[in-house]
Amino acid sequence: MQDIPHIPVLYTQVIDAFKDIKDGIIIDCTMGYGGHSSMILDANPNIKLIAIDQDQTAIDFSTSRLEKYGDRVSIKKGRFSSCIKEVISEYGVENIRGLLADIGVSSLQLDQKDRGFSYQSDNLDMRMDKEAPLSAYNVVNEYSSSELERILLEYGELRNYKKLASTIINSRPFTSAKELSDALKHLLPRGKKIHPATLLMQAIRIEVNDELGELKSLLKSIEESNFTDARVAIISFHSLEDRIVKQTFSKWAKECICPDEAMRCTCSRDNALGKIVSKKPITAKDDELKQNPRSRSAKMRIFHCE
Ligand SMILES: C[S@@+](CC[C@H](N)C(=O)[O-])C[C@H]1O[C@@H](n2cnc3c(N)ncnc32)[C@H](O)[C@@H]1O
Repeated sequence: MQDIPHIPVLYTQVIDAFKDIKDGIIIDCTMGYGGHSSMILDANPNIKLIAIDQDQTAIDFSTSRLEKYGDRVSIKKGRFSSCIKEVISEYGVENIRGLLADIGVSSLQLDQKDRGFSYQSDNLDMRMDKEAPLSAYNVVNEYSSSELERILLEYGELRNYKKLASTIINSRPFTSAKELSDALKHLLPRGKKIHPATLLMQAIRIEVNDELGELKSLLKSIEESNFTDARVAIISFHSLEDRIVKQTFSKWAKECICPDEAMRCTCSRDNALGKIVSKKPITAKDDELKQNPRSRSAKMRIFHCE
């Protein structure tokens, strides 16, 4: 077995989330290096797993890692926003008992300097799918000032987004993340726990991979496909994603869908898709935090579709 390049986060809690599933299909929307996938296959011996990823390096690694499970596993390459629709139509929504999405980047993507995800990278790429048309190079060197301001504000929550955008425009072209973060260093916030360029890199990465659009589209497909008796577990790594998951699960749990201003309820009060399993987000315990510092920002929310 090759060295495992990514430690799965919240592993015991993920196993726990799916422990009552006896058979049917579980979809791992973010297979990565197959950590969660193999744990789920081991813990739920009668399920079939459909695993999705858009990164060919992850697909190659996990195809070999998961080979021992034979036809219990089927792997799909692509964005989960489109693969989920294919999986539902191919296998039937009635057979789906669980769905996991551990969104964001893997440790290997972050650590491999040529992928361009780190502020120390010698290039500007950040594509999870190396064949995708939009890279960090395009965003940094070709976006207009207002487009740059939008992503720096919305995805990086950077207060001096205007100054940052104008500095990028006046100093470009940039060919590496290192060059970019060095040029903006004096304008970036100095946190105690994170490198000043972290939020800048986060903003560009979210844009390049349409990360929030992907998450919203996945949740919409689940809602529209009417999942029944299925557990949905989403792990996110920053507040923008966690907010989307939290708000969507609250909407799904609502019995009454009458407008707030309605004087009395006229709906049938049976509109909930199911129940929120975890009222508070599930986070890493001390032993995991010690073993895997990356788990410190992981938050998992679980919904049970009824
Ligand atoms: C945090 S890692 C998952 C790690 C995995 N759970 C494990 O245990 O090895 C996230 C993975 O999801 C993939 N990914 C992220 N967004 C995606 C999307 N919209 N569609 C498909 N794959 C995606 C990334 O390429 C990456 O390999």
